[in-house]
Amino acid sequence: MDRAAAQDRGQDERSRTKDFKRHLHALKLAAMTLKNTLARWGWLAQFLHWLIVVLIALQVTLALIADDLPLGMKKLAMLARHKSVGITILGLAIIRLLWRWTNPTPALPDSLRPYERFLAHFTHAALYVLLFAMPLSGWLMSSARGFPVSWFGLMQLPDLVPKSKPLYEAMLETHDALALALGAVVLLHIAAAVKHHVLLKDDVLRRMLPFTKSR
Ligand code: HEM
Repeated sequence: MDRAAAQDRGQDERSRTKDFKRHLHALKLAAMTLKNTLARWGWLAQFLHWLIVVLIALQVTLALIADDLPLGMKKLAMLARHKSVGITILGLAIIRLLWRWTNPTPALPDSLRPYERFLAHFTHAALYVLLFAMPLSGWLMSSARGFPVSWFGLMQLPDLVPKSKPLYEAMLETHDALALALGAVVLLHIAAAVKHHVLLKDDVLRRMLPFTKSR
């Protein structure tokens, strides 16, 4: 009887150890995929990339709607939303860059020619510069116009510059020009992603997509 009880206890112990090891393995896997590796972007980098893509699409939509509205409360409300989303993108871009600096970056395929390698680095750097320059030029424009920027009505941000008509006009032109530049670089970036996936058949797009495996 005693021996049977001891056997049961032993079995219980072994199954608990097994469960614990399985749990630990799952935790390790989750931690591994959170961070980038040299082969794939981790889930945080992927999440930030695609969240920013969605917010940029929303941002363009809000700007186009506001542009079509006559001066009035509706236009101001739409612009207030546009500013809040812009500040969110700025915050996410800062987190994204900090995360990139503290993580490995997946290497580009060895098969790329020097000009393709240069273009990849150039477009990524340009996208980062524009992710900062667009919201900052908007914030400068708003301050120069004398309209403080608020983040979804929850927090008012400080004015970056005192009221100034010439600066407001310069920032308005800069913001528009940067938006066109962002559109052009994003198109180039999408074309490159499609070329990697369809023509070169490498892992470059797949490693930025969630729920996929690298080959
Ligand atoms: C449908 C649209 C998009 C697709 C298919 C796409 C695809 C990709 C892919 C596959 C990568 C990884 C490249 C690599 O592993 O070397 C990447 C990186 C990147 N993407 Fe996009 N992207 C899109 C839109 C955007 C937009 C709108 C932005 C920002 C304005 C953006 C900013 C970036 C940046 C900055 C990187 C470089 C990441 C780094 O090196 O830290 N992407 N994108």
